[in-house]
Amino acid sequence: MDKLLIEGGIPLAGEIAISGAKNAALPLLCAALLTREPLTLTNVPDLHDIDTMLKLLVQMGVKVSREKVGAGGTASAAPAAMSGTASVTLDASGLDNPVAPYDLVKTMRAAVLVLGPLAARCGEARVSLPGGCAIGARPVDQHIRGLQAMGAEITVEQGYVHARTTAAGGKLKGARLFTDMVTVTGTENLMMAACLADGESVIENAAREPEVVDLANCLIAMGARISGAGTDVIRIQGVDRLSGTTHRIMPDRIETGTYLCAAAATGGAVRLTNTSSSYLDVVIDKLMDAGCEISLERATINLKAPPRLKAVSIRTAPYPAFPTDMQAQFMAINTVADGTAIMRETIFENRFMHAVELIRLGADIKIDGNTAFVTGVGKLDGATVMATDLRASASLVIAGLAAQGETIVDRIYHLDRGYEQMETKLAALGARVRRVK
Ligand code: UD1
Repeated sequence: MDKLLIEGGIPLAGEIAISGAKNAALPLLCAALLTREPLTLTNVPDLHDIDTMLKLLVQMGVKVSREKVGAGGTASAAPAAMSGTASVTLDASGLDNPVAPYDLVKTMRAAVLVLGPLAARCGEARVSLPGGCAIGARPVDQHIRGLQAMGAEITVEQGYVHARTTAAGGKLKGARLFTDMVTVTGTENLMMAACLADGESVIENAAREPEVVDLANCLIAMGARISGAGTDVIRIQGVDRLSGTTHRIMPDRIETGTYLCAAAATGGAVRLTNTSSSYLDVVIDKLMDAGCEISLERATINLKAPPRLKAVSIRTAPYPAFPTDMQAQFMAINTVADGTAIMRETIFENRFMHAVELIRLGADIKIDGNTAFVTGVGKLDGATVMATDLRASASLVIAGLAAQGETIVDRIYHLDRGYEQMETKLAALGARVRRVK
């Protein structure tokens, strides 16, 4: 299993480009299932989760062609490790196997995003239940309930959700869809399903995340009639068919925030290009509260860290509030800040697993239920730590970069799921980071 060896204590400095957003790319790949025409996505990040989703689509009968694009934006024959993001064209005209098997779904919960499009296009879908995951139970009851409201008959057998439409013509029907909590992939699944349903659907309590808006924009370009994406009420007027299009995936706001935190924790100064500050208001505000100087240009964010950060308290909540996917990285910066931060996690019930690992590096963290109290220490000391999930891994890398001496982050396959070429990008910022097998 790969590990990351980090020699800490070096302030990050320099410029890197941010990749396309994983959490936008995954639902967008599934949107290809809704049409018989080719869908081309650009700025697709080169990540394990993308590979998994493509494998899943291929075994359903989708034809995929993928072109790696070099850092300069031109197509290249560079080896995978050196290549940048890619353009992917998906052709689901031959879709003939609306099944998502356990061995693929178990590694990536977002595979559940095929359920809505398959039910809408094929009138049938068999999708393995994603099961639990390290950061909490994460059920998919809201996805299922929404499809039932649209007339799908759903049974759960042998770990699979089996959805079937019963109406004449095999179509779903438009419905009022209310989710008990704000769910990002739930909103995306139901929005995609509603595009091909008979009549109007209204999703209430919809997720307002920018990735939902990116998906809606692509669906609209494919001919869908959607209004209200980005608000908590999304209206979708079903259409008979969608067409193909070309869509550029939005920049990854969580990757952006992660590198900003890495620069902040090391007292560095970085310039991040190919990104956007518009989805990151709260993260940028918190970094400024911590004492960082931040300046924004159109697609570029510059950060200069102070000699010592100030502790910043946060409370995670659905967009536009502070993202749960940035909580672990902020815990890392608070471990070396001046003062005590109170960090409240309200989305996932078990998302503090990085805390025990940060403590191994010398951090002072007390956990009480969904609240962590983090008191900054003068310095962290390198140690061997273990990554437990994607964002937890990122927080350990940040802490390792800030720590004195060598840190080994074990089980970095989590990082490969969601960060494109992390060690290459960190090295470009002057970090001493090495991947060892
Ligand atoms: C998405 C993101 C993930 C992020 C999360 C919260 C993707 C691919 N992943 O995950 O990175 O951390 O949003 O911003 O976009 N819930 C239920 N029943 C459901 C659905 C959700 O109880 O049917 C609960 C979850 O357990 C969780 C909360 O609702 O407590 C929010 O989860 P949700 O927004 O659905 O997360 P994901 O869409 O899986």
